[in-house]
Amino acid sequence: MDFKHIKENEEKSVSEKKEKVSSDYWRQKYHIQGIVGLINDPNGFSQFKGKYHMFYQWNPLKTDHTAKYWGHSVSGDLLHWERKKTALRPETVYSKNGVYSGSGLTINDKLYLFYTGNVKDEKGNRDSYQCIAISEDGENFERIEPVITNQPEGYTRHIRDPKVWEKDGIYYMIIGIQNDDLKGKAALFSSENIYDWKFLGEIAGADKGKLGKFGYMWECPDYFQLKDEKTSEIKDILVACPQGLEAQGDLYNNVFQSGYFIGKMDYKKPEFIIENDFIELDRGHDFYAPQSMEDDKGRRLMIGWMGVPEQEDYPTVKNEWLHCLTLPRELKLKNGKLYQVPIEEMETIRGEKSEFSGSVKGEKEIGKGTVYELKAEFSDISSDFGLKLRVGENSETVLKFDYNEKKFILDRSSGEQPDKSLRKVYLGDIKTLELDIFVDNSSVEVFINGGEEVFSSRIFPEKGADKITVFSENGINVKIEKWEWK
Ligand code: FRU
Repeated sequence: MDFKHIKENEEKSVSEKKEKVSSDYWRQKYHIQGIVGLINDPNGFSQFKGKYHMFYQWNPLKTDHTAKYWGHSVSGDLLHWERKKTALRPETVYSKNGVYSGSGLTINDKLYLFYTGNVKDEKGNRDSYQCIAISEDGENFERIEPVITNQPEGYTRHIRDPKVWEKDGIYYMIIGIQNDDLKGKAALFSSENIYDWKFLGEIAGADKGKLGKFGYMWECPDYFQLKDEKTSEIKDILVACPQGLEAQGDLYNNVFQSGYFIGKMDYKKPEFIIENDFIELDRGHDFYAPQSMEDDKGRRLMIGWMGVPEQEDYPTVKNEWLHCLTLPRELKLKNGKLYQVPIEEMETIRGEKSEFSGSVKGEKEIGKGTVYELKAEFSDISSDFGLKLRVGENSETVLKFDYNEKKFILDRSSGEQPDKSLRKVYLGDIKTLELDIFVDNSSVEVFINGGEEVFSSRIFPEKGADKITVFSENGINVKIEKWEWK
């Protein structure tokens, strides 16, 4: 097979479209995005020779999911990313219909990538190959394909998204898989030498343990440990993206979900013993397929795709690009609950500061901005209140606490995306509310009460929409600090 055209087509598409893309006022300032085309899952999130490496699913040709490459960016601070040459292209026999998602791990001074080679024949039959790529310089990769061919017995060819870690000299791989009864699962493999992998069994999934009906396929599983900051207990965390959960009130409103279980990993059995219910990681419109890594400061960092599958109708498509990744967040466990907090590096991009404090009844403009961080502390809560961001003639993004429903609501319905639905989370009887909000040219990320809940959503305000207002029905006390981004 001749794959020469794969790289040529990519380069042609990039050179033809990149000017149009870069002139779009919705282009992000501090979020990883494709130079052209569509991006989706973060891949291979790792640290290598002192730098953070992020790869991502990338279709350089179109704003749809028909071709998948691994784009590559490198950063010293997780905020300023330098685009590197394309790491992996669908230019091999074992990946010709897509270099699908996977992870990264530094082993003996080499960067290893683990990914799924997707192959389809003319009838649409699928082969899934788990593969490895190795780099000594962090930029050029030697591919070893495949190390696992298709599925173990009892499963379908939906097997993808390997996440690899090392424990006591053994390598483990967790991978999304579907069984013959069309139930989504997470499977565990092990290897002593990184090349020969043994199927140990499924560790969690629909119709297993305490889970009943729970999706027809699990994508992008992740596994890690966190020490509880309050109890000092070490807990195992399993992240998964089950496809096929039905919406239940405010839960599971996106096309597919990503969330976590806390529990205990039994490597011998093997089983992930689930102790809690599935909790969605993010309450916003645009969050899927997150990936985590532990950095050399001992932090568990997570970045998600700020987008969801099957939603390709965002207004940036007319400018030849679609989707981005979220800002990085740090994960912490406190009293058995996962908190997601903005990384401390966010403070390094704080520029000019403005403040407001006082009582607001009705609606009051308190500042302006398009790319910034805003911290707000509300107290004396006795009615509906909130903030409006990116307010223009025709659009606004509303962050509101509904006093009767006791819910926090994100309303981006006036923006230029076709999806007008709201996202909500129940907060209960609150005395105060703390928000840490990150606004980029076409996104908002809201961390509530020190990271107890997070909302990540793309927003598409009209050009120049920059007013910030505070509103309340009966009056609210508010203290605001805002920093323009440098
Ligand atoms: C999740 C996903 C993965 C797959 C990749 C393909 O968004 O469907 O399961 O590897 O995207 O781009």
